[in-house]
Amino acid sequence: MIKVRVPATSANLGPGFDCLGMAINMYNEIHVDEIWGGLDITLSGRYIQGISTGEDNLVYQVMQRVFDSAGYTPKGLKIHMVNNIPLARGLGSSAACIVGGIVAANSILGGTLTLQQMIDMAVDMEGHPDNVLPAMVGGITVSLKAERDVLYNRFDMDEGMKLAVFIPDFEISTRQARKVLPSSVSMKDAIFNISRAVFLVSALRAGDMKNLHIATQDALHQPYRKKLIPHWDDIIEGCYHFGAKGVFLSGAGPTIIAVLDGEIDRFKDALYGLTSVFDEKWEIEILSPCNQGVQVINM
Ligand code: HSE
Repeated sequence: MIKVRVPATSANLGPGFDCLGMAINMYNEIHVDEIWGGLDITLSGRYIQGISTGEDNLVYQVMQRVFDSAGYTPKGLKIHMVNNIPLARGLGSSAACIVGGIVAANSILGGTLTLQQMIDMAVDMEGHPDNVLPAMVGGITVSLKAERDVLYNRFDMDEGMKLAVFIPDFEISTRQARKVLPSSVSMKDAIFNISRAVFLVSALRAGDMKNLHIATQDALHQPYRKKLIPHWDDIIEGCYHFGAKGVFLSGAGPTIIAVLDGEIDRFKDALYGLTSVFDEKWEIEILSPCNQGVQVINM
């Protein structure tokens, strides 16, 4: 059996729209066996509602594409998904399926693909590189597509850093969250974001959190997307009031992430108190960045 473990990811980190990403210590697993015939998909884990166990299952489709490109036809496949990354919440669930599926299929093929080939394939399937790269290589990634090439840099994060991850009980698809964005932006907003994004990367790299509330500001997507997220302003204000260092929308949302420093329990209690009166239910999970990307955990 092949077992693959792949982390959740947060894209954008505020100003780094479509280019910055971070791996987080919340994981899906994909267990695959080649069998004598047919397709047998089973599910376990926290978030399995809405995942198909038929031929339209994303992991299966991704694996088939890898097999097709290698000219290989498995007789049959038994796939078990342990799904702990919530769907359509801005935590990279589809990137995790794509990256995990590619790595699992590549293991069955005996590891013929290079890392760069797997990255190119995953970005092609996902559309944007910003969740794919941290899922593949861990840590913080800066990634871009230059014509047909996917380029990236990565660096490690402090795995002791605490992130309050606010996961609501409603979903927003990336497509829906991109529809509310304007087709052009002002030079002022472009400069605002470039300055924050560059500052954020240099600050994270240096482990300097003191101006994170400025470095995580964004003018390109959050101001438009916040109308999709009830109580956005209350949550952001509450996070800063109770000591967060920086707060941003995770990917296309609706999950919100606050970088913490100090009294975690007090922060969590206060924010649960605040969100408990809202109509929507918000889970607050205390997680951390992780420097390990996708991993084959045994063969
Ligand atoms: N960066 C994308 C967006 C999400 O914010 O729409 C992840 O690819």
